[in-house]
Formats: sequence, C-alpha cells, structure tokens
Amino acid sequence: AKIKDFQETLLTWYDREKRDLPWRRDHEPYHIWVSEIMLQQTQVNTVIPYYERFMDWFPTVESFASAPEERILKAWEGLGYYSRVRNMQKAAKQVVQDYAGKWPQTANELQNLVGIGPYTAGAIASIAFNESVPAVDGNAFRVFSRLFEIEDDIAKPQTRVIFERVIQQVISNERPGDFNQAIMDLGSSYMTAKNPDPEHSPVKRFNQAYLDGKELEFPVKSKKPR
Ligand code: ADE
Repeated sequence: AKIKDFQETLLTWYDREKRDLPWRRDHEPYHIWVSEIMLQQTQVNTVIPYYERFMDWFPTVESFASAPEERILKAWEGLGYYSRVRNMQKAAKQVVQDYAGKWPQTANELQNLVGIGPYTAGAIASIAFNESVPAVDGNAFRVFSRLFEIEDDIAKPQTRVIFERVIQQVISNERPGDFNQAIMDLGSSYMTAKNPDPEHSPVKRFNQAYLDGKELEFPVKSKKPR
C-alpha cells in the first residue's frame, strides 16, 4: 500500500507540474535518445535550443545516419565532447543497417548500440517503450538514497546494481517512463544536491532522510572508490 501511495503521489505531482520539454511531446525513441545524450553533459535550459535545431537538421535517424561529418559536428558545436556525436552517428548507422531502421525495444538490446550504457538504455526503454526498468543517473542516486537512506557509496561501480534493485521494487509498471522522468524532475527541484527544499516536496512524507533530519548526508560518495 505504501508503494502504491508513493507512486500515485509522485505521478499525480508529475502530471500537474512536469516541465514542458520538447522531447516530452512524443515517445519517439530517436527523440528520447538524442535528448538523453545531450542531457548527459549539459543543463536542460542549454540543451533545449540545441535539441530543436538538431531535429530541424536531422528529423529522422536515417537523415542523421547519412549526414556529412562536418554537419553533425556543427550541430554539436558548443556542447563539447565531440566523441559523443561521432558515436551517436555510429549508433544511428547500427539502427539503420543492423536493425533496418527499427529501434531495439528493450534496455538490454539497446546497450548493443554504440554509446548507450545502462542509464541511457533504461531511459529510452522506459520512456519510448514502456519497459519497467530503472534509469539510474546522478539524479536517481540522489533521490533514492535520500528516500530510502541507502548508504552505499555511489562512487563504487557495484552500487548501481543495488539502486537498480531498489528502484525495480518501487517503479510504476503502468507508467515506468513517467515514473523515471518524475524522479528527474524531483532531482532538479525539491531534491537538488546543494539546496534542496524537502519541506515543500510532494514526496516529503516518503523521504526518510528528511524525516530523520539527514537530507544532506545523502547520497554517500567517497573520494576514492574501491
Ligand atoms: N535529465 C536527463 N534526462 C532527462 C529528461 N528526460 N527530462 C528532464 N531532465 C532529464
């Protein structure tokens, strides 16, 4: 009952308050993928105009796959890490050539594409294909470590699996993509790293760290991972 209560509270808040972002207008895997790669290195507000122009220049995965290199580098100018957009074009060619233009639909298969790791695969699979899988990035580490007082060191690679197991228990199987995006929105509003506002958070009563006065003790992150 508590899990259902948490899901309903979170999703009701998301339905009312979710950010109106261009990649939230539909569930096209191509759209979700481009936005997620851009958002790995850059803030939402900076990404928006890049994303809009990118879709203008390369409206489909096919058009992006066959674009000249100078054009894709131009689209990325200012975002940094050009290896990302080069890898993106490799992945786009995989989709077009190996998958006949039809995106793999599970988080496991999506990881066969160049540049798509567990986080990006989880985000695309849940948002575009409604697969009930976690999308664990820095936001998710912060939000769930606080909600459940998870003390594992997020600097250690093996900690991801622990979070994935916890999230698998609480994710909405009806709306996994909205659930994951609601966590992203919480992580950039009421549950930020430095200046959280847990008092006014929609999930305040589920936030164990806050209830114990320990909000800022989470997530636990060592300097030297072992
Ligand atoms: N950060 C990473 N992915 C995001 C998304 N889909 N919406 C908002 N912020 C994000």
